[in-house]
Amino acid sequence: MPVPIPLPDPLQPGSLPTALAPMQDVTDLAFMQLLGRNGVPDYFFTEFLRVHDHSILEKNILDSILYHGTDRPVFAQLIGENLFNLKRIAILLQEYPIAGIDLNMGCPAPKVYRKNVGGGLLREPDKIEQIFAVLRECCHGRFTVKMRIGFEDDRHFLQILDLINKYKIDCLSLHGRTVKQMYRGEVDYDSIRIAGEKVNCPVFANGNVTSAEKALQVKSDTGCYGVMVGRSAIRNPWIFRQIREASLGIPYFRPTLGDVRNYIEHLWNTLGQQIVPESHRISRMKKFVNFIGQGIDPDGIFLKRMRRAIEVDDFFGICDEFMVNDGKENSLFSTEPFAGVVARPNQEGD
Ligand SMILES: Cc1cc2nc3c(=O)[nH]c(=O)nc-3n(C[C@H](O)[C@H](O)[C@H](O)COP(=O)(O)O)c2cc1C
Repeated sequence: MPVPIPLPDPLQPGSLPTALAPMQDVTDLAFMQLLGRNGVPDYFFTEFLRVHDHSILEKNILDSILYHGTDRPVFAQLIGENLFNLKRIAILLQEYPIAGIDLNMGCPAPKVYRKNVGGGLLREPDKIEQIFAVLRECCHGRFTVKMRIGFEDDRHFLQILDLINKYKIDCLSLHGRTVKQMYRGEVDYDSIRIAGEKVNCPVFANGNVTSAEKALQVKSDTGCYGVMVGRSAIRNPWIFRQIREASLGIPYFRPTLGDVRNYIEHLWNTLGQQIVPESHRISRMKKFVNFIGQGIDPDGIFLKRMRRAIEVDDFFGICDEFMVNDGKENSLFSTEPFAGVVARPNQEGD
């Protein structure tokens, strides 16, 4: 029986492999380069590239593949359902130095799943099979899948895992929630364990891997090959280094609040240089700060104040108040997000 193509080796033999979760409008070239400096993940996944009749290879995605400068492999993620166009874009992408093509079967945004793409595909195993057949045939390197355990429940989960084996998928990243759960509620790590037992390829456990300790716990609970981290890499861009060090039994790096303040300034300088007016640049920053703020104070006051900041002086003044003044810059940054401090109330809130 044909077997999956092994993944490239992780950076440090013996460490727990890590992957940066694909995140739209976050995991771009600038963010990948920043992780390159703070502690690189073993594997990158690009933001999703929308596949439809008029799709082309978007410059921002190609830039992130070509210029991240970290030597770590990059998987290019596609979202779509049209067989002809998926094949067309997959063939074009293979002209570039990618580690593989990844198919998005998890996006929970209603405007996405209503088009039967992303998480919407999880309702239709027959359609999944058609897509797997086409992509498997045209991907000469790795073809990987990122998915959730189901749409509203896990009724097709085992059937889809069978398809993962049948079409020799090379790696599975599994977010242990349904599409309907969005980002709320518990992550079902037991389903991730079951997937790992059933499929022939490596499995990345995804969902609420919030710290190095949690990564080791998830590894032990699920037996996964590695962990994929999304939102916690925005909050704490040192997390991949920390997981690597902790998994090798080394005391891991602990950033201070001063380091976090510098991280925010770095984001300001690299992410939105071309964005005008300034208020739009601040809005873009807030998408990151929403997650960073989960580690700043247990009462969420920093976040409340930040959400009201309109001008740049205000924005950095609040940062200094919570992260620099009165010797705070030397305090250690929390390793875990504070319970009850919610980044995006409409997606993660109760
Ligand atoms: C802002 C944002 C954008 C995302 N964009 C994508 C995407 O482009 N493709 C994808 O497969 N998942 C996307 N996701 C889902 C993440 O990859 C990941 O599965 C999810 O956040 C759970 O992992 P976490 O708990 O470590 O954040 C996105 C998540 C967030 C928060």
